[in-house]
Amino acid sequence: MADIKKSQHGEWSSRFAFILAATGSAVGLGNIWKFPYITGENGGGAFVVVYLLCVLAIGIPIMIAETMLGRRGRQSPINTMSDLADEAGAHKNWHYIGWLGVIAGFLILAYYSVIAGWALSYVLKALTGSFSGGNPETMGALFKGLMDSPVQQVFWHSVFMAATMFIVARGVSGGLEKAVRFLMPTLFVLLILLVGYAMTTGYYMQGLEFLFKPDFSEIDGHAILTAMGHAFFTLSLGMGAIMVYGSYLPKHISIAKTSIIISCADTAVALLAGMAIFPIVFANGLEAGSGPGLIFQTLPIAFGNMTGGWLFGILFFILLSFAALSSSISLIEPAVAYLVENKNIARQKACIWAGLITWGLGVTVAFSFNIWSGFTIFGKGIFDLLDYLTANLMLPIGGFCIAIFAGWVMKPEDSKHELEMTNPQIYEAWKFLVSYVAPAAVFIVFLNVIGILG
Ligand code: TRP
Repeated sequence: MADIKKSQHGEWSSRFAFILAATGSAVGLGNIWKFPYITGENGGGAFVVVYLLCVLAIGIPIMIAETMLGRRGRQSPINTMSDLADEAGAHKNWHYIGWLGVIAGFLILAYYSVIAGWALSYVLKALTGSFSGGNPETMGALFKGLMDSPVQQVFWHSVFMAATMFIVARGVSGGLEKAVRFLMPTLFVLLILLVGYAMTTGYYMQGLEFLFKPDFSEIDGHAILTAMGHAFFTLSLGMGAIMVYGSYLPKHISIAKTSIIISCADTAVALLAGMAIFPIVFANGLEAGSGPGLIFQTLPIAFGNMTGGWLFGILFFILLSFAALSSSISLIEPAVAYLVENKNIARQKACIWAGLITWGLGVTVAFSFNIWSGFTIFGKGIFDLLDYLTANLMLPIGGFCIAIFAGWVMKPEDSKHELEMTNPQIYEAWKFLVSYVAPAAVFIVFLNVIGILG
């Protein structure tokens, strides 16, 4: 059945277009904002090693699985999963993976948009010369000013949400392809430039050592869960984003190859960000584990003190905002595709509803950094709670189910046919990783955190 099926929402124009869109989804705040600060909070090298292992053994096989399921189902993740369950003669309940993903997408986008709003507000700060001559004190105060202001945060969050919904309303394949094609390489170049600046701080080796020299006494079960959760988060896996992008993928494009390319590009960006940030952290006597404000308190110091820093600062935060935008649209696309398919409403209208709900939740996240900072559930503020719930729980659970479905429920002849791997050994290797290694790894990490493994 799936052979003749096309997505009602359109298709990518080429293999390159898909790689761009999926890389655009993967590369975002996760790489540049989140990876450095969670690495800093979790002691550096050992955390990075676990994260890289998770990308290899769990992330890549699941990305292949998710793309494959999407292309075979050709619809929103909810309907895709229910059709594929039918095809495999399995229970309809598998479509709840799609629902889990839709909810995770809302929850992630709510805080993602607030952080992207921080990046937007830093474009303006860069433009008005706020970084000039910056040092740890002045840049710390600048960031604190933003944190303490619910009005500023809600304003920028609103701008970002509006931009996201505007693009999604027009359909993800058009203008986005063109924008990402040009913006991503530029961001990459700018990061390399920042690494170049980091080399001049005199603390470059110390930064590298922190990032790459593993000290396993630094991590516990919880750090391992965070590293695994981040592998899902940074590759946009476990909630149907890559599945919905896969559903717009034309036939006869190698899913395995594209998945590996996307994962490598994503990892490279994260490591470059780390290599730029930690030398600046140590050179300025800053705290590596200072939390979500890390890049906002470090990079402006670099921009404020390097030649041409004014321009680079503006460019950097513009590009970061665009990287966030090409990620955020993939967080809401599964929900919008579902509304269009099942509720028979126009894309624009679906976007307005989905956008309003996310925006409202995002406002509470913005408040959690200031007027509601005392409000906690399970000892966590709203931002921390949403981040924990999605990255550490919902995405790994979603990914686990996707792996089980692709490895055990779907008929091997169907997955073989869909993946069209010319080399049977590569298919077997993927099948093994997705059936055994990835689900077992997720399971063990969970048991470990619950404390069952001691
Ligand atoms: N991967 C993106 C980042 O690193 C965020 C993101 C986009 C995402 N779509 C997703 C995370 C789907 C989880 C699931 O910034």
